[in-house]
Amino acid sequence: MSKFADFDKGNNSIASTNIMRKFIVAGNWKMNTTVPEGVALAKAVAEKSKEVPANVELVIAPPFTHLGAVAAAVEGSKVALSAQNCADKAKGAYTGEISVDMLKSVGCEYTILGHSERRQYYGETDGKLVEKMKLALEAGIKVILCVGENLQEREAGKHFDVCRSQIENVLYHFSAEDMANVVIAYEPVWAIGTGKTATAEQAEEIHASIRNTVEAKFGRETAQDMTILYGGSCKPSNAKELFAQPDIDGGLIGGAALKADDFIAIALSF
Ligand code: PGA
Repeated sequence: MSKFADFDKGNNSIASTNIMRKFIVAGNWKMNTTVPEGVALAKAVAEKSKEVPANVELVIAPPFTHLGAVAAAVEGSKVALSAQNCADKAKGAYTGEISVDMLKSVGCEYTILGHSERRQYYGETDGKLVEKMKLALEAGIKVILCVGENLQEREAGKHFDVCRSQIENVLYHFSAEDMANVVIAYEPVWAIGTGKTATAEQAEEIHASIRNTVEAKFGRETAQDMTILYGGSCKPSNAKELFAQPDIDGGLIGGAALKADDFIAIALSF
């Protein structure tokens, strides 16, 4: 509870201003579980979520096919529902796509956008992300925007530039008011599903730089209020050290979100 202790004592950077930053642990289930398996996992997470302090928000992002059943499974708990993606069109003849209104109608509070797997395998561009984010925010769905460099970019020392331009290309199309409904997830591609986690120092320096990029456009208050999550092989054994960093406000969890015990253990790591 180190982060909260500091928060209460009023002796760290978070507490020294009137920061409204939320702590979030979000589970990205990706293309895993059948519907019955997903419902069982969601029920286990909802049950164990009672152990998680009120100031940590819990979010799960199952596949589209699961959303209705999972919404019912977590009803009445503190677990919020997220999609993993949404369409860049509002409605109509777009076979295979899922609109923000559809997501809203099954109780989604969030959608993840711009995950590196979508950028890499499905041609997600920053331009498309702007369209998707506009529709999501208009529909009242909060956005978890993913950014992060690949291994080649990191080795070339371009990681700060890559994250900065991903933020500028998407978020700079929006207003400071919109930022209240946006969460950023920094996910170094080389750490996703590889077991290789960024060190707490590596993650913190990027998080701080992402916050500066937000501040450059939207001002200090908005930047300080922005929740910035770390993602990439985050697990119970490394979450505490990561979350202790001043600019890391939680995690976007892949593999470890598929086990209720691990997911909740991560949420208890602040
Ligand atoms: P991982 O995935 O925790 O399995 O590395 C994180 C993510 O891609 O969101």
